[in-house]
Amino acid sequence: MLLHDKEAKAEIAEKWDESSESYDSHHGHGIQTDEEHDAWIRVLSRLLPPVGSKILDVGCGTGELTLLLAEMGYNVTGIDLSEKMLQKARGKAKSSKLKVHFERGDAEKLNSSDESFDVVINRHLLWTLHRPTEAIDEWKRVLKKNGKLIVIDGLWNDGSINHRLCRSVSDLFIMISERKDPRKGWYSKELNCMLPHPFGMKKEKAQEYFEAAHLRDISAVTLNDIRDIQRKHMPFSQRITYNFTYYLISGCKR
Ligand SMILES: C[S@@+](CC[C@H](N)C(=O)[O-])C[C@H]1O[C@@H](n2cnc3c(N)ncnc32)[C@H](O)[C@@H]1O
Repeated sequence: MLLHDKEAKAEIAEKWDESSESYDSHHGHGIQTDEEHDAWIRVLSRLLPPVGSKILDVGCGTGELTLLLAEMGYNVTGIDLSEKMLQKARGKAKSSKLKVHFERGDAEKLNSSDESFDVVINRHLLWTLHRPTEAIDEWKRVLKKNGKLIVIDGLWNDGSINHRLCRSVSDLFIMISERKDPRKGWYSKELNCMLPHPFGMKKEKAQEYFEAAHLRDISAVTLNDIRDIQRKHMPFSQRITYNFTYYLISGCKR
């Protein structure tokens, strides 16, 4: 049975509310080392317009990327469906004395007016959406002419035998050491059925979405170096499955 949009969004918000407390403690979510922080700045500064430009971070979660962009000198707004993820983000902005505007909003139906941002960015969001094409159209709507869309995503599980083997070993470790069952799905079966990319998204697929949206100057860069920095600091149970394809795609509105 498929969920209605409202039910699906309520479940998504609830799941990320639950995750908000521990979210930043995971390498790959929270930027936990100077090495990783500097690597993100290097990648982003090659792509971003002049400091002071207006950026919308869609599905900003606890604001890891939003705050990094504010630290770089951008005028940033972060939106998310989960009020508790936003609470974390606001708390972090306050303690780091960074000026960022956070508000509750839906990535697939933004509150912002047309052509109001120089950049729309998101990290680890596109794969979680059940209508990626509509979402990209919506992000394009709020971009100014020549504005840039940046998507950071990955293919978390490629379905290979190797991945399945590593996953089984990792699950066993987690069950023994943390006494919890990692095989329990993240979203409900009903919600997962609605997601076209429940295991993450291939870079080529993300590129297809950009092409279908008629963006120009589409280019992709691998983020495997950032993935490897994160991987170095993980416990063994996470490290053995942490070898997915990680990438950033950008394109400009005509
Ligand atoms: C994997 S987390 C990524 C968070 C953050 N971008 C980061 O890089 O750490 C996905 C986030 O997307 C949010 N999200 C999922 N669907 C959304 C939607 N339709 N609109 C806004 N936020 C959404 C979730 O609440 C969650 O905070």
